[in-house]
Amino acid sequence: MRLLLAATCLAAFAVPAAPALAQTVFGSGVAASSARNSAERPIVFAATAPADAALVILTAEQALPADAPLTSDERRAVEQALASAGFAAKPNETVALRGIGARPRIIVVGLGQDGTAKAVMEAAGKAAQDLRGEKAPVALAGAGAGARMADAALGYALGQYRFDRYKVTTGSAPSTAPVTIVGSDAAAAQLAWSGRHAATAEAVRFSRDLTNEPASTIYPDSFIARTREAFAGVAGVSIEVLDEAAMRKLNMGSILGVGQGSPRGSRLLLVTYKGSDGAPLAMVGKGITFDSGGISLKPGAGMWRMKGDMAGAAAVVGATLSLAKSKAPVHVVAVAALAENMPDGNAQRPGDVVRTMSGKTAEIFSTDAEGRMVMVDGIEYVTATRKPAALVNIATLTGAKVTALGDEYAGLFGRGAGILAAVEAAGEKTGEAVWRLPLHPNYAEELKSDIADIKHSTEGVPPGAGHAAHFVGFFVDPALPWAHIDMAGNEMSDSAKPLTPKGATGYGVRLLDELVRSWKP
Ligand code: BES
Ligand code: MN
Ligand code: ZN
Repeated sequence: MRLLLAATCLAAFAVPAAPALAQTVFGSGVAASSARNSAERPIVFAATAPADAALVILTAEQALPADAPLTSDERRAVEQALASAGFAAKPNETVALRGIGARPRIIVVGLGQDGTAKAVMEAAGKAAQDLRGEKAPVALAGAGAGARMADAALGYALGQYRFDRYKVTTGSAPSTAPVTIVGSDAAAAQLAWSGRHAATAEAVRFSRDLTNEPASTIYPDSFIARTREAFAGVAGVSIEVLDEAAMRKLNMGSILGVGQGSPRGSRLLLVTYKGSDGAPLAMVGKGITFDSGGISLKPGAGMWRMKGDMAGAAAVVGATLSLAKSKAPVHVVAVAALAENMPDGNAQRPGDVVRTMSGKTAEIFSTDAEGRMVMVDGIEYVTATRKPAALVNIATLTGAKVTALGDEYAGLFGRGAGILAAVEAAGEKTGEAVWRLPLHPNYAEELKSDIADIKHSTEGVPPGAGHAAHFVGFFVDPALPWAHIDMAGNEMSDSAKPLTPKGATGYGVRLLDELVRSWKP
């Protein structure tokens, strides 16, 4: 009775219940745009070129291919122009002409001598970029027959990519008139395109979009929402998400530590595509949706680029989208280790020690070396729960890699000759090149911690990319074939290249797609 009285009194004097202050809105809560990127030109295959189309002719020599859709007068005029321009048909060498016949434009692009799929793709991608402002339909001839026509289509698709959804009042809608790839076996081309390349083009677009998006739009949860949207209705796919409570139960102190300074929760996203039996190949991607450096804050100049620090995660999910949409007979699981690295009163500090899911502890030096920390909990979870036959990591991991290799190559580390050779071969084939770097035994010595099982980095003592690779490898079963790809600097390009317009490149999607298709345990 007394107790009840006391409770009533307390209730009478209690401060009225606060209005709902639980923060459900992060940032301003106002989306910068509700538009989508403008539509791209659809791609079709045919034996002949529409009469009103701007014409692209790919050629391996100054003399144009016999089947180029030109009248004899037009051919003479174009060949004369090529001769006076000193055109040598070098790879991606371009001569653009107007005023010939009824064509709004004629663009001739060199293929070089080797006639590979890569040469055809690049020449088509170059043409796509040169024709960005063209209103007319486009016809592309000279790619070859069948599969080569599909290669040209993929090159055109990659080259015509645009990210313009925020150009709300200043953009002008680019033409959506079709591109006709002209050649002798249009049916075979269509088959190769819809069987594989169209899925790859879509997956690269997906990955580029995620990387180009600012961190105000893409954070762990919205990365997952975009992924769910892209995979909706695709056969053989299952998606698993661990939120912070689930990760805490598993003692994933490493990824949770990185995200603890951000109000946006960390997540582990797993996308599985099962198109065959047997153990999967696991791919783990770094998904830092913004890397400010945390308490070890980065300098201001160039920090904006760190909106692209989730490109490894976009690559593994993108490759899986390409494989699943093209129904490849493979079993693969993509892991996106998602967190935002921010300074805050609750952020991780230099000197902190974290417990990883594996039970091993790590001592933090710079909170800017966060990528390796999110990776290792992702690796532990996928190897413990899925028993993969091989493991591939990909991450925008170190500035040291950029210093060593620029953006011509990604750095390749790992264990197991088979998997490493397969990554190198996939790099050669797709043009998403990798270069082998060593894992010297001294790195173990250099990362010894006084108070924990391992230091997560040295303070500026090189080699930074090697140390990061060693750290990640410390958490990988030595018996497991393991490749580690440091793609720092490959994720965004300051200048347009034939297959990659300026901005996000989608690096890794085609590399991993090819690797998974070709790798045999
Ligand atoms: N995300 C960066 C690495 C990076 C640099 C990616 C340039 C893309 C372009 C990474 O998290 C980082 O900050 N690494 C540090 C590690 C160091 C503190 C041990 C670096 O490389 O400086
Ligand atoms: Mn960092
Ligand atoms: Zn980073």
